[in-house]
Amino acid sequence: MHLKRLEFYIGKLSKKGDINMSINPVVRVSQKFDEGNDIGLITSGEDKYIYDSDGKKYLDFCGGIWNMPFGYTNLAINEKIIKQLNKLPFCNLVTNIADIQHNYAVRLCKIIGTGAVLYTCSGSESIEAAIKTCRKYQAIKKSSRKGISAFPLSYHGTTYGAMSVSGIDQVLLEDYFPLLDNIMWIDLPKDLQDEDIWIEVVENHFKKNAENMAGIIIEPIFGSGGIVPIPEKVFKRIQELCSSNDILLVVDEVTTGFGRTGIPFAFQRYGIKPDLICLSKGISNGYLPLGALAFSNRVVETFIEKDATLEHFSTQGGNLISIAAADAVLDLMEHYEDYEVAAKGEYMVNYLKQLLGSYKSISVRGTGLMIGISFPKDLDAERLLDVWAKIRKRGLLVYIFSNPGYNLGLSLFPPFTSTKDDLKKAADKIVSLLKRYPDIVY
Ligand SMILES: Cc1ncc(COP(=O)(O)O)c(C=O)c1O
Repeated sequence: MHLKRLEFYIGKLSKKGDINMSINPVVRVSQKFDEGNDIGLITSGEDKYIYDSDGKKYLDFCGGIWNMPFGYTNLAINEKIIKQLNKLPFCNLVTNIADIQHNYAVRLCKIIGTGAVLYTCSGSESIEAAIKTCRKYQAIKKSSRKGISAFPLSYHGTTYGAMSVSGIDQVLLEDYFPLLDNIMWIDLPKDLQDEDIWIEVVENHFKKNAENMAGIIIEPIFGSGGIVPIPEKVFKRIQELCSSNDILLVVDEVTTGFGRTGIPFAFQRYGIKPDLICLSKGISNGYLPLGALAFSNRVVETFIEKDATLEHFSTQGGNLISIAAADAVLDLMEHYEDYEVAAKGEYMVNYLKQLLGSYKSISVRGTGLMIGISFPKDLDAERLLDVWAKIRKRGLLVYIFSNPGYNLGLSLFPPFTSTKDDLKKAADKIVSLLKRYPDIVY
């Protein structure tokens, strides 16, 4: 069974108007959430916990939806939001620029080493803008290249361009065809840890397609693709091939950015210099919608030299209140080391390995607080959903991945405020449950 990750659930109000989780007026990605789900409406949050209408408490290791590293009640973020709200809530970016829009862009560029920032409202929109930039960049250089390369295990969002480059959902998207054309898939090695085969595959892709490639989009660690890191050597080789062929390297840091992987931005680990960086999620700690596309100095200079423009705008892109939240996140990032994200992640991975290491059917991996537990590949996705629901019932929220042919399992994005004790207790909960499934743990 292919788990329909993107099955938008269109329900309706029941006659009585009461909330029944199987008849819901909110259109959302269902992921079969409603089956066996007895969580009431969520009514409040505190640090790493959320509470439902029955007063039940959940430890949120989904971290919102991977976007709340600093938890639900970070007063420093609230304070900056309120201050900005009282000072100036909106500024028309077509004709003006607010102090906070300017200052935040400068601050972010200094941290990530880029030359300019385009504000967006979401990760998907940042990807749209990146695809457009790749094509526009080639056009202003008088190149006819339109192709965008991506990996089959990637997920980049749900707007048309973002969907078109999201490998893992292609099989589910037929009803929406045609998607963007000139999308080119890079094969993946069967063994995702075999760096030499990865490099061979990547080199072959460039050999065959470089003439048509405007850009390549990469998540440093496939998130929805099962918490699979792209090996450093491969990333570096891609950078070299992009540079020598004048192809733009787009790094999607929507999930990995703002400290999730034990370093402020995952690309920094590899010592590479992306041409474009897509950001969202943790940028505002999930408090308000915001995204950004950051451009390298090289790309900015090319646009300036050619007197070229990028036709992209959305009214709420760069909303001042959202930027205030983002600015507070950068304040928190100044004390990033205090959260010990890398050490906590290592602790949890090692502890899970200690508990599950004797079972060949399970593998555990993680970078920082982005952790994956893979089940046997051929397990029916219904079994995964069953495990998932039971973990929820134990008061712990995690996420799942299901990529037929590649992997299937649980993903964990603990908030940075989680203690080692939280991590240990969550691991104990998951493992004690898994041990009841002889078709998963053997
Ligand atoms: C790596 C990655 N890119 C892009 C997106 C899309 O972001 P958004 O949901 O804000 O549009 C996501 C969302 O999960 C993501 O994980």
